[in-house]
Amino acid sequence: MHCVRTVTENLYWVGANDHRLALFENIHPIPKGVSYNAYLLLDEKSVLFDTIDWSACRQMLENVEYLLAGKPLDYLVINHVEPDHAASIEEILIRYPEVQIISTEKAFMLMRQFGFHVDSHPCIQVKEGDTYTFGTHTVTFISAPMVHWPEAMVTFDTTNGVLFSADAFGSFMALDGKLFADEVDFDRDWIDEARRYLTNIVGKYGPHIQALLKKAGGILDQIKYICPLHGPVWRENLGYFIEKYDKWSRYEPEVKGVLIVYASMYGNTEAAAQALAARLCEKGVRNVAVYDVSNTHVSYLISESFKYSHIVLASVTYNLGIYPVMKNYLEDMKALNLQNRTFAIIENGSWACKSGDLMQKFIDEEMKNMTVLNERLSLASALHDDKETELDTLANALVSDLNGDT
Ligand code: FEO
Repeated sequence: MHCVRTVTENLYWVGANDHRLALFENIHPIPKGVSYNAYLLLDEKSVLFDTIDWSACRQMLENVEYLLAGKPLDYLVINHVEPDHAASIEEILIRYPEVQIISTEKAFMLMRQFGFHVDSHPCIQVKEGDTYTFGTHTVTFISAPMVHWPEAMVTFDTTNGVLFSADAFGSFMALDGKLFADEVDFDRDWIDEARRYLTNIVGKYGPHIQALLKKAGGILDQIKYICPLHGPVWRENLGYFIEKYDKWSRYEPEVKGVLIVYASMYGNTEAAAQALAARLCEKGVRNVAVYDVSNTHVSYLISESFKYSHIVLASVTYNLGIYPVMKNYLEDMKALNLQNRTFAIIENGSWACKSGDLMQKFIDEEMKNMTVLNERLSLASALHDDKETELDTLANALVSDLNGDT
């Protein structure tokens, strides 16, 4: 049966939710599912904006068929060709042989690469600033390269103020009946998954998101709805989410606080991380978060790293190097272009303690615009009372830096 929601007059959400996929892009856990959003405009001509993942294709087809009520589908606008949205294109082409496809040059190239038979249909190639009219609705196309792939564009309906924003302004988590961000407690229930989505999927391309935000800024007063390809539609308080995207894509911390990520083999480095966390809280730091790098998927650590201003890395030495899972986290932060953070280091080694110097070298030489505090807590196997002063000095250095005293 169909399962659709009305976005606004003559515009419908025709996507689907997915709770069966364990790993998004086969790498990021999505325990609360994900939605694949597609939208159908019923004007004088009918227009489907993007398709969805193959796994949920059947639901989208039922939705589209129900709304078309026997009429043909006239246009298919493809904003983004990653298969979580584009995998069902071929099925639409088969079912609606008269459909005309509107997309960018690079997108058509990718569609052919993926094996879609687009050339048996009229292919309307558009570029930045082109417009198209479907009846009463006129849309303009805005290129959005690297948000998240090079072919990406967003489409703005100048008639009703709907921005089809592709991956931008998306989020992990299934919608489960809700459609609009104002139907959920976004700041309580969604923001962490929205940040985890953005930072892990598109985090590397902050400057490209900034370029898109700049273009959106030019039409901000006309945007009434933001319709992303994942997660809720925005029709209220758009500025809240735009501001988050602006911060994340500038690599500016969301909160002043301390994220402590530890790599501990037998609990001794963990004990030091916990002692520091307690000391920070005792000194009045409000936002302190502690994670075990070994049992936290790195996508969560990346999200938290984009959130917090200060990051403490606590690692044992392993094979005379950084503990492998900690090294992987560092490599991921680098790959996703995280910048503008202050780090502190706790190192541990029972006979040849190397992890501190190696983590510092990685941060200094491989990452951009990072600061490492000079105060370091060095452990030989375990934290003992003789390290009281070092622990306190490290905590004070963090507090002082958080307060902007340095
Ligand atoms: Fe949700 Fe880049 O695709």
